[in-house]
Amino acid sequence: MQDPSPYLALHGKSSTLIISVEVGASPTICYWGPRIDTGSTPENAAKTVRQLRHRHGAQGGPSIEVPVSLSCEPGTGYLGPNGLEACRDSAIWAHVLKVKTVEQQKNTYSIVCTDSENSLKVTYKFEIDLTTDIICIQTIFQNTGKGALQINWASVLCIVLQSELSEIISFSGRWAREFQTTRSPLQQGGFFIENRRGRTSHDRFPGMVLCHKNTTENGGACFGVHLGWSGNHHMRVETLSDGRNIMQAGALFAPGEMSLNSGETYETPKLYTAYTPNGLSALSNSYHDYYREYLTDQHTGKNPRPIHYNSWEAIYFDHTPEKIKKLADIAADLGVERFVLDDGWFKGRRNDKAGLGDWTVDTSIYPDGLHPIINHINDKGMGFGLWVEPEMVNEDSDFYRDHPDWILGAPLEPQIEFRNQYVIDLSRPEAWQNIFNQLDALLTEYPKIEYLKWDMNRDINHPYSHTGHAVLHKQTHSVYKLIDSIRAKHPHIEIESCASGGGRADFGILERTDRIWTSDSNDALDRQWIQRGASYFFPLEVMGSHVGPADCKITHRHLPMSLRAATALFGHMGAEADLTSMTERDKNILKTAFSLHKNYRSLLHAGDIIRMPACSGENNFGVIAKDRKTALFSHTRIDSLKTTMPGLFQFHGLDPSLQYRLKLIWPIEFETPSPLSAETTDLASTGYEVQGDLLIKVGLQLPPLAPQTCVIFSLTALTDL
Ligand code: GLA
Repeated sequence: MQDPSPYLALHGKSSTLIISVEVGASPTICYWGPRIDTGSTPENAAKTVRQLRHRHGAQGGPSIEVPVSLSCEPGTGYLGPNGLEACRDSAIWAHVLKVKTVEQQKNTYSIVCTDSENSLKVTYKFEIDLTTDIICIQTIFQNTGKGALQINWASVLCIVLQSELSEIISFSGRWAREFQTTRSPLQQGGFFIENRRGRTSHDRFPGMVLCHKNTTENGGACFGVHLGWSGNHHMRVETLSDGRNIMQAGALFAPGEMSLNSGETYETPKLYTAYTPNGLSALSNSYHDYYREYLTDQHTGKNPRPIHYNSWEAIYFDHTPEKIKKLADIAADLGVERFVLDDGWFKGRRNDKAGLGDWTVDTSIYPDGLHPIINHINDKGMGFGLWVEPEMVNEDSDFYRDHPDWILGAPLEPQIEFRNQYVIDLSRPEAWQNIFNQLDALLTEYPKIEYLKWDMNRDINHPYSHTGHAVLHKQTHSVYKLIDSIRAKHPHIEIESCASGGGRADFGILERTDRIWTSDSNDALDRQWIQRGASYFFPLEVMGSHVGPADCKITHRHLPMSLRAATALFGHMGAEADLTSMTERDKNILKTAFSLHKNYRSLLHAGDIIRMPACSGENNFGVIAKDRKTALFSHTRIDSLKTTMPGLFQFHGLDPSLQYRLKLIWPIEFETPSPLSAETTDLASTGYEVQGDLLIKVGLQLPPLAPQTCVIFSLTALTDL
């Protein structure tokens, strides 16, 4: 449908995006901010916005300011970094993209542009979700000219943001310490995140939030962007000398990697964007609800997420069927609902030097295959899941012995050693088919496998095929296709995305998987921050969150069970410690936590998250049901108190008009002498009736807790009692 209007107005619940789409001119964003009423004639309103925001010629600059088009192509004369860098026959491609048509299908708007020579067609697709305000943007570049077009860089979009959004929240970290959150002022020049690890990465999460300096968790303007892509990426915000902030995001290519022959297209990853005037937690809830509506697999979404037990930190590579059965017996008794057999079950895999690439059961360990243990686990009432790492190969494997050239590398350079494994070149159809066939055969032989933990344990340092061509983009799509094809053939399978913990966590992988292994670190104190950071974009139900051993295998910190269990409770809960050596007391606490999680998971996995302002030494947040009638709030004292008494706990997000029963439901017993006074003891038994308004405004005086203590409050609206 041809839209004669020179403006597009996309309205969400609390935001409006207006794009100027005059045919024959550059498409530009005129407004992206709080929802405005454009009435029945959006063009008039849009024209007014334009007039109000008319920018005068700046001193020392061109007399008319160069427009910031959707791709900031070089031909426009834009002097910041271009959103499209391409060339044909080595000549810089400097044309200007001009609007040809605008099409609308339900809530998807496509702006089709061509350049002056008709040698490039670019389609910008904006799909708005009217309840969450998430606008999912994807751009398709088509070479409509003669000869090859080399694309060096193609941002999904160039987004002009108000200069008032002057602070940036970004997420960095490392292996076992992902999603560390940093908030800093934007500086003139640029802020950029560039990932070259070949997977989403632990340290350069492809998402960020721009916000006003006064924005808090509970209010204020913020704009989120997240690139749904599991390969290399580049994101930047350029603060220009004229005060404007321009945001770009897209897949990162190696030189020569993206070359389009005549007629070919390049489709960018999806960019998930959202503006809200309601603060950072509201922004997160938009992403969470979007995930729930559009990215949750139908099959997974229907059922409560089962409590997991994972064998890794209990036995590592030291498998025997007897051990597995013993662990399964205890796990079932504790209330576990799915048992996941981790690394170490397949041919030759006695350590991390052999076996990857050969996806058959090691009969020297499991002489009768996996059937006896799967049956045992199923008989105990638990589902069965299995660990695989399909993209990788060890030198000591039949796969590598048969096909030593089917791996990625730099043809003239030695492989970079990384956990004794190489990356299979899945862009080679025969290598892809081999791995597909092996996984397919495994799942066909064991139809009771209901879950795969799909791991990816190394960076791709040399993303080149045997021909020397960079193929990371193709590799990423081949991995997607592998997962999609496995799911199409075995639709009951759920998949967890793991990459040495949270190294491949993004909406691109979550479109085809069901949860992320948030971090290899089960250290509950570190997890408090890791999970808090991850919650900016990911809902609790996708965050794999396990109770590890008392002595964390990674940080060696000794932490009490009540803290470990309370931390894991706010996620997709599970355990992965040696249950055979766990004390009876700890098992009892864990069992209670599992049962609490089961009681509250419909709230935890569908409610709104409310993070309290970040402050050092403690972490506070809550999860509130959409109808505001039930909630859980968590307060963790991480370090010892700076003052003799802690502060007040304000239960933001509750309905001020409702009367609640407030209860302290965790811990079941304090590790240190109880800090509870008589009044707070009541809280732990009968509870206390109080109006939401008071809980929000007056707050509750917290008890002076010892470090490494987590308390959980439950709230139930009295109308429901
Ligand atoms: C990765 C994962 C772990 C475990 C091991 C097995 O490190 O993140 O959870 O599965 O691999 O080798």
